[in-house]
Amino acid sequence: MLTSIKTNEFAGDKSRKLAMMYFRVAIILFGAQLLMGLIAAIQFLVPGFLFELFDFSVARMVHLNALIVWMLYAMIGSVYYMLPDETERETSFIGLGILGFWVLTAAVTVVVLVYIFVQVGAGTEASIWLIHEGREYIEAPRWADIGIVVVVLVFYANVFFTYLKGRQTGIMTVMVANLLALAGLYLTGMFFTDNISMDQFWWWWVIHLWVEATWEVFVGTLAAYALIKIIGAKREIVEMWLWIEVLMLFGSGVLGMGHHYFWIGTPEYWWEIGALFSALEPVPLVAMFVHVLYDWGKEQGIAKAEGKDATVINNGSAMAWIVMNAFGNFLGAGIWGFFHTLPQVNIYTHGTQFTAAHGHLAFFGAYATILIGMMYMGIQGAYGIKRMKATFNGKMAMFLIAFGVMGMGIALTIAGYEQVLVERAELGAGWNAFFAAQELPWFIQGMMWRAIMGVVTFVGFIYLVWDLITIGGKAQKAQAAEA
Ligand code: HEM
Ligand code: HEM
Ligand SMILES: [Fe+2]
Repeated sequence: MLTSIKTNEFAGDKSRKLAMMYFRVAIILFGAQLLMGLIAAIQFLVPGFLFELFDFSVARMVHLNALIVWMLYAMIGSVYYMLPDETERETSFIGLGILGFWVLTAAVTVVVLVYIFVQVGAGTEASIWLIHEGREYIEAPRWADIGIVVVVLVFYANVFFTYLKGRQTGIMTVMVANLLALAGLYLTGMFFTDNISMDQFWWWWVIHLWVEATWEVFVGTLAAYALIKIIGAKREIVEMWLWIEVLMLFGSGVLGMGHHYFWIGTPEYWWEIGALFSALEPVPLVAMFVHVLYDWGKEQGIAKAEGKDATVINNGSAMAWIVMNAFGNFLGAGIWGFFHTLPQVNIYTHGTQFTAAHGHLAFFGAYATILIGMMYMGIQGAYGIKRMKATFNGKMAMFLIAFGVMGMGIALTIAGYEQVLVERAELGAGWNAFFAAQELPWFIQGMMWRAIMGVVTFVGFIYLVWDLITIGGKAQKAQAAEA
């Protein structure tokens, strides 16, 4: 991965070089995210850990913002990677795109340094402009917000004009339309009101309509592109699936937002709307899972019928991460989401560790997986490798990361279950109930296992970085030796 930018394969292809630059920053921020998570997890066990130096609120904030930003980086990288391929032309205004990358990365660096060293400020306008906005997941201070909008406009211009002038595939049509919605939604999280209900009302437009609508559609387009490239799936079939998925995702995900409006002072009709539409959300996720397995089975079957025994997969690691995505999306978002999405259930589970279990499994299953898969595709392209097999380190990374995150999810689910029973059902959800529930063994052990599984995840991450750095060079040598 490190040398991938310099390799000859991408010599004339600035768009793909830029993609690799985005991927690298993404992986660094992913590491930062995990470290912050570990600090926060330790603080659950030893509350005095780093007290007043690096408080839980700050560790948690950086954990969440690094999560969002690394994913956005990897998403932008993926787009720059597939753009010249799909449109069959060079990316328009790529020079501006590269400038945008440096501006964004410089801004992200400054923002993170402020989060870490300044941390908090007075409750004034100045803090919102210079430190952070205090809005979970998207805390960038106002100046950076505006900078992000400018850089994203340049990025969008790159994509839009390349699309207009180039080949217009179904995948790219969905991508271009969806990106407009995705970027536009960011604006709804930028203005500030003194009324916390109103503030939350709009904030969910970004968070929910990102992860349960536009980001899911984005993943649909990535999976479609990846299946064509990795197993040679037929474009007509993949695109037909994609259109159906888009319809179902938007059909359920947009009004599904009502499941966040149970508690914030919005009118009561949101209970029914939220319950109904969010309960439908797992349906497209099942469809996406079936789709990946169906195409894979079909292509392998055709190869077999033609007397070829070899696998149709030309990038083992990427394919494994994408299959993990298809399943993890359904499990973390679909199943764990469905658990608490009806108001009758949510009245007990709201804001317990159960929510955190779902948050981890969903973000990991639906997004981390496929974005890592795209990094492997990037490396395959950068080193010009025809068939890239998964290595030992790569398999260790997959196993440890998946096992670690699943373990964290289970530990948090058990802790959440205990909170539901004791804090909510038995003690009536008051202030004392909250603390009483946190002192019981099921909760404490849940927090311990979360920390242990967090370490397992982190070890897996080290394997992942090691593999991303080395796999390209190794595969290139092997390919040269064969030839
Ligand atoms: C990939 C898609 C998804 C991601 C990344 C995701 C992530 C999250 C996260 C991080 C939260 C916590 C938000 C907070 O800070 O308060 C949350 C809350 C929630 N999610 Fe999801 N989610 C996804 C899909 C779904 C689906 C499909 C459903 C329902 C079928 C669902 C149901 C819920 C509910 C009901 C809550 C509120 C929990 C509470 O009341 O505390 N989610 N989600
Ligand atoms: C080293 C591994 C990790 C550790 C130790 C860890 C730890 C934590 C901790 C302590 C919190 C705060 C929970 C709270 O406020 O009660 C948190 C929140 C969160 N983490 Fe992680 N985390 C890790 C990895 C990840 C990964 C891989 C993802 C997703 C890809 C992720 C996504 C989230 C999300 C979405 C939340 C907010 C959940 C909510 O508010 O409901 N974390 N994490
Ligand atoms: Fe939601």
